[in-house]
Amino acid sequence: MRVTASAPGKVILVGEHFVVENEPAVALAINLRALVTVEDNEGSDVFYSKNLGAFVEVKEGRVLKGAGDGFEVLRPLVKIADILRQYSSVKKPFKLTVNSSIPPASGMGSSAAVSVAACAALSRFFNLDIGLDDISKIAYEAEKIVHGKPSGIDNTISTYAGAIIYRKSEGFIRLDIQIDSAAVIIADSGIPRRTGEMVKQVRDLKKRYPEVLDPLYHAAGHLSIEAARALEEGDLWKLGELMNINHGLLSAIGVSNMKLEELVYTARRAGALGAKITGAGGGGCIIAIAYKKKADDIARALKKVASRVYVLEATRKGVSIDEVVS
Ligand code: PMV
Repeated sequence: MRVTASAPGKVILVGEHFVVENEPAVALAINLRALVTVEDNEGSDVFYSKNLGAFVEVKEGRVLKGAGDGFEVLRPLVKIADILRQYSSVKKPFKLTVNSSIPPASGMGSSAAVSVAACAALSRFFNLDIGLDDISKIAYEAEKIVHGKPSGIDNTISTYAGAIIYRKSEGFIRLDIQIDSAAVIIADSGIPRRTGEMVKQVRDLKKRYPEVLDPLYHAAGHLSIEAARALEEGDLWKLGELMNINHGLLSAIGVSNMKLEELVYTARRAGALGAKITGAGGGGCIIAIAYKKKADDIARALKKVASRVYVLEATRKGVSIDEVVS
């Protein structure tokens, strides 16, 4: 048997960092996907990532062999297989292959998309009939291995796609988005950053100046609610303006730098409706929203100053089983 499943990456449109302190944030699924294939194998389970050049071979909970960063990077997927196998009468060994078009460690939700797709492919391989909620929850268990204490926004958006407004204490609401005329342009600063470290840096700042920062957090929460409305109304101009305000708030909490500002202002000058840091900041990517007809101009301008540029769009296609060969 061979099963292939896929799931989309994401960008955070507004509300990153503030979401950690229980303010709402809005995430959008993008048309880059992680593909996971699970097929029969002889003797042991093999997990292989084409993108990372890593593999690990596991039998009855013991690692037999590994290469690359093998076990470390593939551990979340081993965890997913362990969870699902408990509920299945199918005990046969498999080979799981990851082939993702989402760049890793870029804030585009690559690890969550891989986990979500792996969960879907493995559950079909194990003949389990599980729903989207379970897929997202199991992927969250895997995300904890990668990110420590993630907010849960990545596995949710990768499972359901479209756009969601998410609040830690309340879960998420799916938004009925009207943004088919929008291009989503992502530019990578090429500066590496660790989400966990950036989150800690912001937390420390908030601890030092709670009265100063609290109003910014409330402003960000209101901003996310307005942005969700703009997405549902298809009001790209309003969305852009709100993204620009959100960028100001992110600069205020210390996660911008010269390079990110250069990318943001380059995108705005080239015709973006709005541009801001997306994700943890300190490096990583910016996101710009524009009418599709302006996308090439903006991408051309950004290519001169960014290490990589992607012209994308929103997708409503969440996790899917793409092929089953018996
Ligand atoms: O850059 P990313 O995709 O890892 O985004 C992190 C978003 C934060 O709000 C900073 C952290 C979180 O867990 O939501």
